[in-house]
Amino acid sequence: MLSETADNLGMTPDEEGRRQFLTKLGLGACALTGLGAALTVADFLEPKVLFEPPTSFRAGNVSDFPEGTVRFNEEQKVYIVGGAAGVFAMSAVCTHLGCITRPAASEGGIACPCHGSKFDLEGNVTHGPAPHPLPWFEVRADATGNLTVDTSVVIPHGKALKA
Ligand code: FES
Repeated sequence: MLSETADNLGMTPDEEGRRQFLTKLGLGACALTGLGAALTVADFLEPKVLFEPPTSFRAGNVSDFPEGTVRFNEEQKVYIVGGAAGVFAMSAVCTHLGCITRPAASEGGIACPCHGSKFDLEGNVTHGPAPHPLPWFEVRADATGNLTVDTSVVIPHGKALKA
């Protein structure tokens, strides 16, 4: 068969072998190009959406937050605090460069591990370089006192939820 084809085209068997090799090489290159194009299109069609946790979350019951209670919700990066005026929630994200603060039990406040900012338990800056207080978020309670915090709604400092 090979020699017949080679004979019909006036090629020697070596020339026919080289022709077949180059044909396969070309087909392989086309297949690789097609595969690359298909992968590029598939990647383009895949949504590049950043999924973030919901902004509203349950935070326990009002009765769980007697005055002086500070709970850190690590997933939401929020403190829920039982203050003298009621329950409030505030961001745990430092207003300097965005590090996550931690309660500083020894100092009775909140501290940032990155550059040393300190906040009191209402989020007010007591030591820089943080330029602003920690923002407070809306807290709602249903009829039974179950709390919902909404981190998409920033409220003025001092608007604690009365128990
Ligand atoms: S990020 Fe908190 S002090 Fe710099």
